[in-house]
Amino acid sequence: MSERVIPLVDQRLKIRPAVVPATPVAASGLLGDTLGRPLRDLRISVTDRCNFRCSYCMPKSIFDKDYPYLPHNALLSFEEITRIARVFVAHGVQKIRLTGGEPLLRKNIEILIEQLAELRTVEGKPLDITLTTNGSLLERKARQLREAGLKRVTVSLDGLDDAVFRAMNDVDFPVADVLRGIDAAHEAGLGPVKINMVVKRGTNDHEILPMARHFKGRGAVLRFIEYMDVGATNGWRMDEVLPSAEVVSRIHDELPLVQLDPSAPGETAERWGYADGSGEIGVISSVTQAFCSDCNRARLSTEGRLYLCLFATEGHDLKHLLRGGASDADLASAVAAIWQGRDDRYSELRASLPPDQGQGARRIEMSYIGG
Ligand code: GTP
Ligand code: 5AD
Ligand code: SF4
Ligand code: SF4
Repeated sequence: MSERVIPLVDQRLKIRPAVVPATPVAASGLLGDTLGRPLRDLRISVTDRCNFRCSYCMPKSIFDKDYPYLPHNALLSFEEITRIARVFVAHGVQKIRLTGGEPLLRKNIEILIEQLAELRTVEGKPLDITLTTNGSLLERKARQLREAGLKRVTVSLDGLDDAVFRAMNDVDFPVADVLRGIDAAHEAGLGPVKINMVVKRGTNDHEILPMARHFKGRGAVLRFIEYMDVGATNGWRMDEVLPSAEVVSRIHDELPLVQLDPSAPGETAERWGYADGSGEIGVISSVTQAFCSDCNRARLSTEGRLYLCLFATEGHDLKHLLRGGASDADLASAVAAIWQGRDDRYSELRASLPPDQGQGARRIEMSYIGG
């Protein structure tokens, strides 16, 4: 039998055990990292599996039936996730995003949402709880998700043309099903729905205008994302990145746009409004215009590791603390120490990093940590 070589990607990156510092750090909601950036946004991956095989994220050649996905007992339970989330909220988190892989594949996800919906920010307000999905199961689940306490959803959609969409998800999934999922989300009160389109030059950039025309005036916020060099499996090349400035100019030529002010500090998207008042779009330009300087996002993996950047090369293991009898105060101190040591700003440094730390470094996969 020939031995199969499993590429050294995502899950097996360097892991540091999270450590409880000798001097406790109480949660005050005022945590800052080494660059003074607060902690406001927690992204929780609830599964490393997905039913799509987008080539820029889970190429079929690697994510095949033999791929070593996490076993069930490695996953954090809903109670464990909620306990960690509570600690993050005490440190100032105001927004929680559930991601995957595909988060709607996690069984009974609405029970987790119910638990998270009970948490309150330091100011005593409900959290902004949202979820990023490929939309394939949304038509069936939108109402249930809303009833559980989800506020809104973001749907990934890379084109309107059925053939382009089927080729990009690489499992022949029809676009009409996702569009029905988006409608169901609107009807269930999960709006304004955000639509994320990753743009790859030469693959789907001809879908930019059809997508803009379709979603204009429908109450959805369409966002165009520059194709990024995340992970180690997607074969990223700079010449496949279409700069956001070009996306804006292509749309503006047909549908005039005006730039809008940011709606929150640390936001990923630059906002543009249609000059006729019929809604807005966004561009997320992590390649041509990095937005690390006020990045307030922490990421928790399905198996309880904390990552401080989408391009991290190591994770901090919180699960061993959770399962090793640590108190909530211990957890809060450990998280504080990790955040206070954070200096990540990969996208700003990309061009100047030496090869072993730049694009040559082994990084987590987006399917493992979410968007
Ligand atoms: P909203 O609050 O709904 O506006 O969400 P968001 O813009 O914070 O999040 P979303 O998860 O929709 O982000 C959209 C895309 O931006 C992701 O799929 C990633 O491609 C990219 N992105 C999000 N966060 C980061 C980040 O911290 N760094 C980089 N480089 N890219 C990011
Ligand atoms: N570049 C940019 N965005 C990506 N996503 C996944 N891989 C990439 C990449 N290489 C986005 C998807 C989805 C979210 C989960 O992450 O479009 O919206
Ligand atoms: Fe699945 Fe989203 Fe990755 Fe596509 S981009 S493979 S839908 S997790
Ligand atoms: Fe934040 Fe890292 Fe993205 Fe910069 S590259 S915005 S530090 S997650």
